[in-house]
Amino acid sequence: MDSIVVTGNGPLNGDIPIAGAKNACLTLMPATLLSDEPLTLTNAPRLSDIKTMTELLQSLGAEVQGLQDGQVLAMSSHDLSNLHADYDIVRKMRASILVLGPMLARAGQAVVSLPGGCAIGARPVDLHLKAFEAMGADLDLRDGYVHAKAPSGGLKGAVIEFPFASVGATENALMAATLAKGTTVIKNAAREPEIVDLADCLRAMGAQIEGDGSPDITIQGVDRLGGATHRVVTDRIELGTYMLAPAICGGEVTCLGGKLSLVEAFVERLDAAGISVEETEKGLKVSRRGDRVQAVDVVTEPFPGFPTDLQAQMMALLCTAEGTSNLEEKIFENRFMHAPELTRMGANIEVHGGTAKVHGVERLRGAPVMATDLRASVSLILAGLAAEGETVVSRVYHLDRGYEHVVRKLSSVGAKIERVRGE
Ligand code: UD1
Repeated sequence: MDSIVVTGNGPLNGDIPIAGAKNACLTLMPATLLSDEPLTLTNAPRLSDIKTMTELLQSLGAEVQGLQDGQVLAMSSHDLSNLHADYDIVRKMRASILVLGPMLARAGQAVVSLPGGCAIGARPVDLHLKAFEAMGADLDLRDGYVHAKAPSGGLKGAVIEFPFASVGATENALMAATLAKGTTVIKNAAREPEIVDLADCLRAMGAQIEGDGSPDITIQGVDRLGGATHRVVTDRIELGTYMLAPAICGGEVTCLGGKLSLVEAFVERLDAAGISVEETEKGLKVSRRGDRVQAVDVVTEPFPGFPTDLQAQMMALLCTAEGTSNLEEKIFENRFMHAPELTRMGANIEVHGGTAKVHGVERLRGAPVMATDLRASVSLILAGLAAEGETVVSRVYHLDRGYEHVVRKLSSVGAKIERVRGE
């Protein structure tokens, strides 16, 4: 298995290009299943999760072609030859459940395996299923699969009220509602930029959607959707991750294509910790004001709050802050698995349930560590950039799911980092 070797070597300077959003792309791709006309996505990130979604869509009869080195995804779902999403593909990635809504809406039925994904908590899909039931679908859970059937005239518009704002459930319900009969209102919808990006793409395909980006989304069902070409929104999590590199190491890095509106809550916390962020024409320019960052408290929340997907990376920064920071994880119940690994590098962290107390130390020391999930793995790389000596991060296949060319991007601003091929 490959590993990544990082050696802390001082300030970083230069530009890092930010890719299209993994999480947006993973919901835009299944949208192809809603139409028999081509859907083309530009600015797609080159990641193993995108390959997994490609494989899944192809298994259902869609054509998916990666052009221009994978940055353009040309998709077409003229015929849905198979309405059965198999466990062998679905188990690799939780976002696979996002094929259920589109298949149910267009073909009237679907069988989809219950998903897998990062081991960061129970992560059920009950809210997705409740939304389809509200739209009249008949659901049966058998042998690890969801067997779903729409009523004979197709899904029906409904009022769907989520008890909390789930990103995936909002996306699934939104896609399904575009082809339902009548009006659907999604209440307490997630407001993430990826939802707005999905709605933009669906509108380009002919859907009638209003209110995306707010807690109430209204969808007027249409008979059919057409084709479209859509540019995937910038990845705000990759953006935030690379913004932390100069924050941890010093220097000045511009994250190309970055926008403040994508990361406002995160930037507010960075500012309190002593990190300057300036929006320029090129992107977001980041530098540290003093020698050491200040401790800050962080609470993860649905957008527009501080993203859970940046919590591990923020913890890496706060390990060397002056003072004690409290990090409260409110989205996933088991998302501090990076804490014991950071401790191996000399960090002083106490975890109690959903809260982590990080007592800042002056310096971290390099150590062999293990990536436990996607965002945890990159937090260990960030910590390694600031540590004394060499850090070897193993199990980097997690990283490949969400970060393209991480070694190339960080080396280009002066980091000492390499990938070592394993058996
Ligand atoms: C998406 C992102 C993920 C991010 C998360 C929260 C993708 C591909 N993934 O995941 O990177 O960390 O949003 O910002 O976009 N829940 C239920 N029942 C459900 C659905 C969710 O109980 O039916 C719970 C989950 O277990 C979790 C919380 O709701 O505790 C939030 O999950 P959700 O917003 O649905 O996250 P995902 O869409 O899975």
